[in-house]
Formats: sequence, C-alpha cells, structure tokens
Amino acid sequence: MTHKWCCLLPALIICVVFPLTCESEFQTLAHLRAQSSSRTQTKAVRELVRRLLGDRAAEFVVSVNSSLATDSLDVCEISSAQNSVVVKGSSGVAVATGIYNYLKYFCNCHVSWSGNQLNLPRPLPPVTGVLRISTPHRFRYYQNVCTQSYSTVWWDWSRWEREIDWMAFNGINLPLAFTGQEALWQEVYLSLGLNQTDIDEFFTGPAFLAWNRMGNLFKWGGPLFQSWHVKQLYVQYKILDRMRSLGMMPVLPAFSGNVPAAITRLFPKANVTKLSPWSHFNCTYSCAYILDPRDPLFNRIGSLFLSKLVARFGTDHIYNTDTFNEMTPASSDPTYLSAVSRAIFVSMTSVDPSAIWLMQGWLFVHNTTFWKQEQIQALLHGVPIGRMIVLDLFAESMPVFSSTKSFYGQPFIWCMLHNFGGNSGLFGTVESINLGPFEALRYPNSTLVGLGMAPEGIEQNPVVYELMSELAWRKEPVNLAKWVSLYATRRYASNNENLTASWQLLFRSVYNCTLPQYKNHNHSPLVRRPSLRMATDVWYNRRDLYEAWRLMYSAAHSLMSVETFRYDLVDITRQALELLTTDFYLEIKDSFHLQKLPELLTAGGVLVYDLFPELDCLLSSEPHFLLGVWLERARSLAQNEQEAQQYEFNARNQITLWGPVGNILDYASKQWGGLITDYYAQRWNLFVNTLVECLDRGLPFKQDAFNQAVFKVEKGFVFNQRKYPSKPQGDTYDIATRIFLKYYPEALKRLN
Ligand SMILES: *[C@@H]1O[C@H](CO)[C@@H](O)[C@H](O)[C@H]1NC(C)=O
Ligand SMILES: *[C@@H]1O[C@H](CO)[C@@H](O)[C@H](O)[C@H]1NC(C)=O
Ligand SMILES: *[C@@H]1O[C@H](CO)[C@@H](O)[C@H](O)[C@H]1NC(C)=O
Ligand SMILES: *[C@@H]1O[C@H](CO)[C@@H](O)[C@H](O)[C@H]1NC(C)=O
Ligand SMILES: *[C@@H]1O[C@H](CO)[C@@H](O)[C@H](O)[C@H]1NC(C)=O
Ligand SMILES: *[C@@H]1O[C@H](CO)[C@@H](O)[C@H](O)[C@H]1NC(C)=O
Ligand SMILES: *[C@@H]1O[C@H](CO)[C@@H](O)[C@H](O)[C@H]1NC(C)=O
Ligand SMILES: *[C@@H]1O[C@H](CO)[C@@H](O)[C@H](O)[C@H]1NC(C)=O
Repeated sequence: MTHKWCCLLPALIICVVFPLTCESEFQTLAHLRAQSSSRTQTKAVRELVRRLLGDRAAEFVVSVNSSLATDSLDVCEISSAQNSVVVKGSSGVAVATGIYNYLKYFCNCHVSWSGNQLNLPRPLPPVTGVLRISTPHRFRYYQNVCTQSYSTVWWDWSRWEREIDWMAFNGINLPLAFTGQEALWQEVYLSLGLNQTDIDEFFTGPAFLAWNRMGNLFKWGGPLFQSWHVKQLYVQYKILDRMRSLGMMPVLPAFSGNVPAAITRLFPKANVTKLSPWSHFNCTYSCAYILDPRDPLFNRIGSLFLSKLVARFGTDHIYNTDTFNEMTPASSDPTYLSAVSRAIFVSMTSVDPSAIWLMQGWLFVHNTTFWKQEQIQALLHGVPIGRMIVLDLFAESMPVFSSTKSFYGQPFIWCMLHNFGGNSGLFGTVESINLGPFEALRYPNSTLVGLGMAPEGIEQNPVVYELMSELAWRKEPVNLAKWVSLYATRRYASNNENLTASWQLLFRSVYNCTLPQYKNHNHSPLVRRPSLRMATDVWYNRRDLYEAWRLMYSAAHSLMSVETFRYDLVDITRQALELLTTDFYLEIKDSFHLQKLPELLTAGGVLVYDLFPELDCLLSSEPHFLLGVWLERARSLAQNEQEAQQYEFNARNQITLWGPVGNILDYASKQWGGLITDYYAQRWNLFVNTLVECLDRGLPFKQDAFNQAVFKVEKGFVFNQRKYPSKPQGDTYDIATRIFLKYYPEALKRLN
C-alpha cells in the first residue's frame, strides 16, 4: 500500500508517493514548532518567573535557544553560577519546565491549582555540574473540548494567565485554544445570509458551548449576547499571545459540519442531515443538522471560517475538529468514511496547506459496535499519513492504539482523561499512567508523538496532573511510593512523617484505581438522586482512606497556615464524609426493608441534620470549594442584570440538572459549600421523609413518584435566587476537628 506524502518546507510543498510504513512520515509534523523567536520566548519565561517568584526571579538567569533542540525535542539545562541558577532551554516551555523541576527537587517547592508553596531557600541550592532534562515527546497536549465548559467557561484573563503559567511549568506545548470562536462563527453565518434569530436559535449558553460545538446540542441556555463575543475575543487574543510567546502551539478549532438549522432555508439543495437526539435529550435542543462533508457547501463554510480564524488569530497549523463525537455516522461503508475525513481535511488545507488535523479518538471508545477495525482504518486513512494526530483520549483505561496497530500509521498522543464532568472526589490511576506512556513508546512500530492530559474538568486531584506532566520528561516509570513522599514534602514544605505516610496510603487506595469499571465519575450516593438502588461500592480499601485522614488530621495544628494543606485537609475530610454517607444510606435502606422506623429515623437524621450541614460548613470555609465563587464568576461576565441571570442559570443548571428536565442529571456534580445544603441535603431530606411516610402508612416506595417530587426540589435549587458567599467563612481547623472527633469513630465502627 502506498500513500501520498507531502513534505512541508517553508515555501513550497513537495509531494511524493511513499510506502505507508515509512520512518520519515513524521517529518510532516516538522513544521509544528514554536513560532516566537528565542528572544521573545526568553522574555516571556523571564516574566513568568517574576510572576511566580517576585524579586527572587533575579537569581535565575534564563535563556531560550531553539537550536538546542535535537530532532525538535525539547531540552533544558540547569547549572549554578555565582549567586544564580542558569537555565537554558530549547523553548520557553522547556525552560519553564526546567525551572519547575529545579524548584521541586532542589527547593522543595510546589505550584498547583489549589495553591502554591514557594518558600524558596536562601541562597538557592547549588546544582553540581549540569542538570539536563529532556523529553522523547514532541508534543505535550492539554485540555479536552469539555474543559472549556466544565471549568474555564467563566474565566477572566487573570485566571487564564495563571493557568498558562501552570501549563508552562508542567511542560505543556500543545494546548487547546477554543475561546471566542462563536464570535467568528456568527460572522460566518451572517455573511452567508442567516439573520440574528437564526443564530440565536443555534448557539447554546456559555456553559453548554462544548456540546454545541460538537453538534450535540443547540439553543439550550442560550442565546449568546454580543457582549459575550466581545469579551471572549479579548481574552482569546491574550491567551494566544501568551501561549505563543512561551513557545506553545495553540490548537484552534475547525469546521465539523455542524450547522444552524436555518442553513437548510438558505441552501435548500445542500445535503444536510438531521441527526437523532444526543444522550437523553429530545429534538427540542438536540438533533443537530450536519452538512455532508462531501457537499461543496462544506468546503465553502469550512474555509470561510478557517480563513477568518487564521486572519484574526494567526495559526500554528494545527486544528481540532470532531465530526462524529458521540454521533453515529450515516453509513459504516469504509469508502464513505474515508471520503468524509478526506473532505474535512481538504477543507482545512484549502485555507492552510500545512494544516494538521488533531482529532479526539473518543468516538472509537464511545461506540465499539460501530467503529470496527475496518471503519477506524477507513476514517484514519482518508487523511494522508502524518497529517492527522489522533488523541488516544482515555488511554489510561481504554487505550485504542494497541488494538488499531498504532492508529494504522497515523501519529497519536497518549492521553490521560482522568476526570469526567469536573466531579469532586479523590481519584487516580497512578499505576496505569506510570506505565502506559512507556508501553506506548515501545509498542511495535509505534506512532506515538506525545503525551497529553484531557480531563473534562480540572481543579481537582492536583497530584495526578503533576505526576502525569512529569512522566513526559522521564526515561522510565517512577517509584510511586518514593515519588509521592517527595510530593507530600514539597506540597506542604514539611517533612512530618505522618504526612508522607498519609500520602502513601492515598496512593495505594483512592489513587490506585486498577479496576476498569471505575472511572472518575463520582457515583457516590451523596451526589446522586436518592433511590433504593444506588451503587455503594468503591475501588479502594476504605480503611486506608480513614487512616490517611487520621494521619493528615494529626499534622493539622501546625500546618493550617499552608494553603495547600488546608485544601487537602478539607478534601480528605470531604472524602471520608462521602464514604460515611454511603454507610448511612445503607442503614436507611436496610431499616426501610426491615421496616425498622426508629433506625431509619436515626440514620436519616444524622445524614440530613448533621453530616450534610457539617460537610457544607467545612467546604464553605475553603475558597476552592465554594458554589459562590462559581456563580460570582459567571455573573461577573455580564453587562446587565438580564445577562447575569442567564449566566447564573447556566452555571447552576450545568452542575445539577444538566438540561431542562434533568437530562444528564448530576453528571457534572460538585461537592461545594452551598450546594450540599441547598441541593443534595434537600433531596435526601425528601427521600428520608418519603421512606418514613411509606413505612408509617405501610406503602411501598415508588421511585417514579419520588422522581417527580424530587425534580421540583432540584429545579427549586436552580431558581432559588439565593446569594452564596464567595469568601470563605468559619475556621477550617475548628470545623475539621469537630468533624474528625465526631465521625472518625463512626467511620471505624462501620468498617467491619
Ligand atoms: C544556540 O545554540 C547553538 C547550538 O548549541 C549555538 O551554536 C549558538 O551559538 C547558540 N546561540 C546563542 C545566541 O547562544
Ligand atoms: C430571520 O429570518 C426568519 C425567516 O425568514 C424570520 O422569521 C425572522 O423574523 C428573521 N429574523 C430577523 C431578526 O430578521
Ligand atoms: C422534549 O423535551 C422538552 C423538555 O426539554 C419537553 O418540554 C418536550 O415536551 C419534549 N418533546 C417531546 C416531543 O417529547
Ligand atoms: C447526504 O449525506 C448523507 C450523510 O452524510 C449520506 O448518507 C447521503 O448519501 C448523502 N446524500 C447524497 C445525495 O449525497
Ligand atoms: C453505536 O452504533 C450503532 C450502529 O452501529 C448504533 O445502532 C448504536 O445506537 C450506537 N450506539 C451509541 C451509544 O451511539
Ligand atoms: C513494523 O513495521 C515493519 C516495517 O514495515 C514490518 O515489517 C513489521 O511487521 C511491523 N511490525 C509489527 C509488529 O507490526
Ligand atoms: C504522628 O502522629 C502520631 C500519632 O499517630 C504522633 O504521636 C506523632 O507525634 C506524629 N508525628 C509528628 C511528626 O507530628
Ligand atoms: C496498586 O494496586 C496493584 C494491584 O492491585 C498493586 O500491585 C500496586 O502495588 C498498587 N500500587 C500502589 C502504588 O500501591
């Protein structure tokens, strides 16, 4: 089999016919590289160090020299000079990664979503000789298309800035940059002759844009205000500028074929198919209109959008689009699938001849009935080898590369997905992420070109992301027990042995999920609509978690001034209460079945009147666990009260009902102060009361009737109009102590 292979030189394109399995095929990716000059990157990384370290930044002498890279692979060298640490790297990202490596392993420092620990030793510890860190991975990818809706939707520039700093420190050079695209889509559709009504019928509200972009949903939570477009564009310009100045290659969106319904009015002859509904939606907000990629209109719209995009945003020649994300294609005929992917690719190259198509490989995981070997190969081979990069999106649990001969020759990135819906809860698959990337590299004829992190939501479990980022710069797996001990030490700037012991227990329990049926999609009864048939199992030994809790609590009195410690103490206490909720639920259920009213009242009473209020109180004392912050951020993007109300509605609906009628109920659940009392506890209260009434009157529990009643409670939360504090309240230590003294013995009692 042969394949047309195009070698992209700066000015001209030479195409040759090549055997399919050819070493040089990845040369097609050679043009994907940092565009900023070494000087610009040096300046950007200098500013980054100043933002993080203030005056101490002066002790770092940093420089970027892109010629240091070998085979386009990033490298960084760190050495000591008089009164300073000298850091030289092949890109801004490489230098930032090197500095973070030095900060971690020489200075015992730490940077994370939940706080920084930057207690720098004075003077800076010297490096003997030259510390050289390098990576075998061209690309270190970051984000999932859903992250934009679950986590970053309400961010302003200052929050983005911190995130990009974090990316650089963690070695990311291929981030998704999807912000602001609707402004351009609106221009495209208006220029084609659609009017504002047509567009308002199409875009969802901000919190649901990820699914609008993928053709799953329209209109829900919308429309988008003109002020939204303006603000998003403003942020996007800053995001792109910062990313590029640090040597990153932002991935921009491209056309997938998903169009507003009104296109059929303007172009009645275009081959537009109305899809069947997505997930648990009906055609009121779902059943997208998809334009056949082979229709000439596809190329017209696709290139209109892309040329606008390139003109406004510039380009790094890499574009993401997913045509069949959670959607079944019209035909499984391989010829059709190849033609479709070829057409999509052509619509990219007609604007940018050097375009590389980055595609999420989620579709292959989502529907294995449809996507057999033949279909996968056909879709992948519609695009010249080396001109597409597939994200093996959930590789830590369901890798696709190993059952597709390494994506039939197309380059791929091994991604950890880790989190669904931005759910709270301690979770990790540390063994799998510690081994998977190395196995992928060694796989016969591997086409691995990078590692990635593709969580649906972030700002949870920072330890997992620090480990995963670091693995891209390692030659072999780490010793997990040792690694996590060092993590604990630097996270709190403390070598209290109880903390390292606590983290080792966490690494062998909550963070060591090896059972494929569990994923970080929290199914704890705490965050699910109550019923008599809730899942109660967990993947770890609960005793380990409780002991880790005890150990962490035992170190609390002296560490409460450390932000990262407060966060972890809250998080582990929360996890313990989550487990206990399951115990009390089982007691409620059993006493109902055994018709023991006093026991039911006791267990239900503890849960509703003590455990939930205590949990809410605990979470409310820590800034990272506040419903009020999420809502305030949403409102702060509004120009007026009407917009503010709509944003707040988006923010509340997404984390609870997820749709008008609880369509994907609790998918994006959060354990936040405010939400426990006013949402979860309310429905548990109704559940317990309903069971009591059933026992009292000798009636069976009817789930359907309960669901109707509890829906009113859930909806009640979305529209309750209450203001929630966006500043922490109460003393975390006092609350955590009260909870520990009360519930730790209860937890142990229920272990056997
Ligand atoms: C960059 O590195 C190359 C290769 O090591 C070296 O020849 C060149 O002098 C360096 N440039 C600067 C400005 O240091
Ligand atoms: C847009 O066009 C539709 C169909 O012709 C029409 O019903 C609607 O009123 C128009 N909206 C605007 C704002 O012109
Ligand atoms: C579709 O769902 C909406 C709620 O989103 C509901 O009001 C409507 O009746 C449903 N339509 C059909 C045809 O089931
Ligand atoms: C229209 O598009 C659908 C879906 O891509 C395809 O199955 C069908 O064959 C197309 N029809 C024509 C006439 O091309
Ligand atoms: C998977 O594809 C098959 C057709 O091969 C279809 O019948 C089924 O509904 C799809 N499943 C999902 C979950 O989309
Ligand atoms: C790897 O590629 C070589 C060269 O094309 C081929 O001979 C060999 O069979 C391949 N190995 C595997 C395990 O696919
Ligand atoms: C660790 O915890 C134990 C109690 O389990 C306590 O006796 C000991 O002092 C603690 N160690 C430190 C360093 O705090
Ligand atoms: C995780 O569990 C597996 C088997 O269940 C075990 O072999 C491994 O040592 C554990 N890893 C850690 C870090 O405890």
